[in-house]
Amino acid sequence: MLMLSSTRMIIQEQVDLYPYNTFKIHAKAKYFTSIHSVSDFQELVKSQVYKQEKRLLLGGGSNMLLTGDFQGLVIRAALKGIDIVSQTDDTITVKAGAGVIWHELVLHSVAQDWGGIENLSLIPGTVGAAPIQNIGAYGVEVKEVIKNVEAIDLVTGEVRVFENEECKFGYRESVFKERLKGKYFISSVTLTFTKKNHRFNTSYGAIEATLKQQHVTQLSVRAISDAVIAIRQSKLPDPNKIGNAGSFFKNPTITQQHYEKLKIEHPEIPGYSAVNQQVKVPAGWLIETCGWKGKTFENIGVHPHQALVIVNYGGGTGAKIWELAQKILHSVKEKFDIELQPEVNVI
Ligand code: EPU
Repeated sequence: MLMLSSTRMIIQEQVDLYPYNTFKIHAKAKYFTSIHSVSDFQELVKSQVYKQEKRLLLGGGSNMLLTGDFQGLVIRAALKGIDIVSQTDDTITVKAGAGVIWHELVLHSVAQDWGGIENLSLIPGTVGAAPIQNIGAYGVEVKEVIKNVEAIDLVTGEVRVFENEECKFGYRESVFKERLKGKYFISSVTLTFTKKNHRFNTSYGAIEATLKQQHVTQLSVRAISDAVIAIRQSKLPDPNKIGNAGSFFKNPTITQQHYEKLKIEHPEIPGYSAVNQQVKVPAGWLIETCGWKGKTFENIGVHPHQALVIVNYGGGTGAKIWELAQKILHSVKEKFDIELQPEVNVI
């Protein structure tokens, strides 16, 4: 165990990352440390280990696949706190530490009747990871409520605040995954919620139906959160029980011509209009149509309720999961001439 001089920071060696990844994969980090404050990180930046080793920044570990041991330094964001920054009669602005569990922030906002992230209930992971891939579900993306993102420069240790527009959010995209990939450590996220006149989004098919099923007559932040929780629990495996990282692939977009061509052979193919007159096709449908849904291969497989989710039933390795993902990818390419892109980070 190494200790950095002037802080309580500890760098551990040969740490099993099993508790830190929702795929529940055993893989070792050569070095591992947890960051509890901005100054912790600034101290770390000055250390030899930090300067010498390759680095992996970790939030909730809910969007990555470890295909082997990590021969470097894993830095886990553990900054806590949900603090009110400012408020008006209509809105409230809150700063949350990168290490806060995303769903805890959702539950906190639901309990206060703050609107904005109720559709994003039960998404695994941390607050700090949310802006990186602009998490989204049931018609809402986190970019709609993010005011700014505070991040630390990985070289200088300086703090920089990125306003919403500077984050360049897109579908499962942001500047932190693109141009600034590997340049910043996100330390906190500031979000603005509505206190009244909430703008509910129930347009996503399953929400309306679920609200009806739950006999909800009056829309509320809590009712929508409850509906989303019910939908997710019925479709998606609970990472506390079955290892997974949510959607393994992104939903691809194809040209209108390509879509029309596919429609001749598959009249039932779903498609949603996307930017630049492209059509977004659910990867789950493509994978299911290739026959993968519910298939198991020893201790890994494709989830029986959502073909977009690859699962580890226990003891599966990252390498085997990646192998399965490649097979899925090839079969979709062969059948539909569509190249799926992983949504998870493959390490
Ligand atoms: N579908 C199938 N078979 C499947 C799965 C889906 O045919 O096995 C088709 C159906 O036509 C269904 C459509 O896909 O109507 C959409 O399915 P779903 O509502 O489950 O959503 P998705 O597009 O598969 C996306 C996100 C999820 C998010 C849901 C709900 C991506 C990559 N995934 O999935 O996000 O929860 O919408 O908004 O955009 C995640 O990112 O980890 C994640 C779970």
